[in-house]
Amino acid sequence: MCCNGIIVILALVIGFAAIIYLMYQTYSYIKCGCGQYGPFVSSYGKIKEDMIEEARAVLKKAKHKMKVTDLGCGSGALLLPLAKEFPEHEFIGYEWDIVPLTMGKIKAAGLKNISFIKGDYMKQDYHDMDLIMCYVLKVTGEPLGKILATNIKESCVVISEMFPLGHLEEIKQIDSSIYGVPEKIFVYKKPQTDKKASPKDKAEKKSPVKSKTLKTKTVTKTKASSKTVSSKVASSKTAKATVKGGKNVKKK
Ligand SMILES: C[S@@+](CC[C@H](N)C(=O)[O-])C[C@H]1O[C@@H](n2cnc3c(N)ncnc32)[C@H](O)[C@@H]1O
Repeated sequence: MCCNGIIVILALVIGFAAIIYLMYQTYSYIKCGCGQYGPFVSSYGKIKEDMIEEARAVLKKAKHKMKVTDLGCGSGALLLPLAKEFPEHEFIGYEWDIVPLTMGKIKAAGLKNISFIKGDYMKQDYHDMDLIMCYVLKVTGEPLGKILATNIKESCVVISEMFPLGHLEEIKQIDSSIYGVPEKIFVYKKPQTDKKASPKDKAEKKSPVKSKTLKTKTVTKTKASSKTVSSKVASSKTAKATVKGGKNVKKK
């Protein structure tokens, strides 16, 4: 009789826990845009160690206090070991799910250089961050990369676990694994498009009027070298014809 009572209580507890878990999974799925954003899955095993190792390498080289963030930090699997190892640097985790966020806050008790902020990582300002880590879904990698490309400083390093980000300049890929399955870590920096722009492009950006003049000059040069059009370059019709001529020459 007593044994039966214990079994009934155990079954009730397990059933209640299962219902809570299912409710949390449903909440999490809806919160994560119904599959648009990654749900709470903690970094684990070799890939977690490799992520931390890559961040460690960046932090060891630091000559000033660094600001480090994990976008969708979960319960702090990546940030907490680093915050303990590098008390001189500041660590900030953004997380919109209250469950892992609370777990992270509890685990971080006593640490002064780490904060867990409840918020959407797609809506933060990252201009003063020195190191950004993330473990997002492939589908999030494209829009997140686009935001970061214009929202980080030149010296900032971005490390992405498992999934590539769009729009950033790739520094390297690191071979890693999760549960024995080969996976990659992607390391990025801000795209250097402006630096690579030619003086002509820079002039075009500064002054649209000047840029027209420059274009016309280029067209005239092409025309001269292809020997196809005479000196009546001033009219737009002729200019168009010259451009066509130039393109044909290039194709050949
Ligand atoms: C795959 S988990 C990674 C957790 C942690 N970075 C780690 O490596 O253990 C992704 C986390 O991002 C959170 N997340 C997803 N989209 C988010 C968003 N737009 N803003 C804030 N957190 C987000 C999820 O709730 C989840 O905890």
